[in-house]
Amino acid sequence: MSLLADIRWGSATAAYQIEGAVDCDGRTPSIWDTFAASPGHITRGDTGATAARAYANPAPVLDAIEWLGLDTYRFSVAWCRLVTGPDGATNPAGVAYYRRILQRLRERGVNPVVTLYHWDLPQWLQDRGGWANLDTARAFVEFVAIAARELGDLVQDWITINEPFCAAFHGHLSGLHAPGVRDESVALRAALVQLHAHGEAVRTLRAAAISARVGLAMNLSDLEPATDSSADIAAFEAADLVENRLFLHTVLTGELPSDAGGYFGDGVLAAALDGIDVARIAEPLDFIGINYYEHNRIRAAKPGNDPIVRGVEKLFVPEPRSANGVAVHPAGFTRVLKRVADLQPDLPIWVTENGIGLWDYLDPEGRCRDIERIAFIDQHLEALADARAQGVRVEAYYFWALTDTFEWSYGYQLRYGLFYVDFPTGHFLPKASADHYRSRIASERAGTDASPDPHQETA
Ligand code: FCB
Repeated sequence: MSLLADIRWGSATAAYQIEGAVDCDGRTPSIWDTFAASPGHITRGDTGATAARAYANPAPVLDAIEWLGLDTYRFSVAWCRLVTGPDGATNPAGVAYYRRILQRLRERGVNPVVTLYHWDLPQWLQDRGGWANLDTARAFVEFVAIAARELGDLVQDWITINEPFCAAFHGHLSGLHAPGVRDESVALRAALVQLHAHGEAVRTLRAAAISARVGLAMNLSDLEPATDSSADIAAFEAADLVENRLFLHTVLTGELPSDAGGYFGDGVLAAALDGIDVARIAEPLDFIGINYYEHNRIRAAKPGNDPIVRGVEKLFVPEPRSANGVAVHPAGFTRVLKRVADLQPDLPIWVTENGIGLWDYLDPEGRCRDIERIAFIDQHLEALADARAQGVRVEAYYFWALTDTFEWSYGYQLRYGLFYVDFPTGHFLPKASADHYRSRIASERAGTDASPDPHQETA
């Protein structure tokens, strides 16, 4: 019997990355529309205005899910499509769109998992301070209540916030993501306000639907000090604090990591906590979503080479790497899962994202033979099986992504999909990895370890 036989198999996307139709049917602008429209932020000036056209035509997305034989599909609902603006009114067109998707999924026996915040903050909220303003958390809770009321009969599984680390620190310190702010104290405030909003949202969902299963999705990095010198270990601890513990520890324990004040400054931390009760962030969860991409070796350096963590150098990553230089390091996946399980052994883990960015293209025969992604899938499923063998309670695995998407600051250049999207036409084509994932799912379900040769021809 395969160690993965009873995993729930899924794949994931996010609203701004696939929907397009940014000014249709009452959707208001999000911070990503604003950010992408301003030159220099996105490769080649790409925007999410068209993306994979999932708003105009959701059929290829639904067909891709069915073709793969997925048990479950994770996607996000756009706040700026469901709520009309500062008046807080519900947008019937947005509700109708998401209800249609949810109904189609249910008809096909696919369990939906809905992410409520995948980075597309309504611009009108950014104009009032965005995630640095506690009022944004209040507005989020109102939006969550609307989503629960309008969609709750079709959704059991909810993810409050996707990767609060990225939204806070790439959005407000490295400036790589919307809204493009570069200020450490604002980034810390944005992190804590999001965590506060998460805790409030969990309570709101529970009050709205007693059977809801609620979690959040956090990206955790597998980090290691380059040497055992005290300077490298201190640099590693700083990176681990900012990228991992500030989120993981706080959400699970209701206390900030004890070194947070030392790193950010006690005064800055106290100001960032204004109006926030940290204990209330740790509302008990039904599952924790883990997004795994990063492994890094950390050395102490001044000024360092990391746009977020002070005094650290992330060492050059040897091959294999993703196209954008991220280490392919499956052993780190096992370690990250084990780390979470060690903190709360009974809390189910859902791998809400895992994938690799490549410069995919169609070859002269019109195929996308992404053999690197096939190897990535096999290695990471093996790492997942290792974690399960060690008793880690992983229940679901969502490959990122179902289709090629608007990949944030990389625009359309960097591809993560199992399905190749011809963006000018909106046509979807299964990559070799889609074929492979589909066969893996079928063979794992059948309880065998047989996986096809990754180099074999695809249909
Ligand atoms: C994650 C994001 C997701 C996608 C992948 C590649 O950080 O949650 O939207 O961009 O990275």
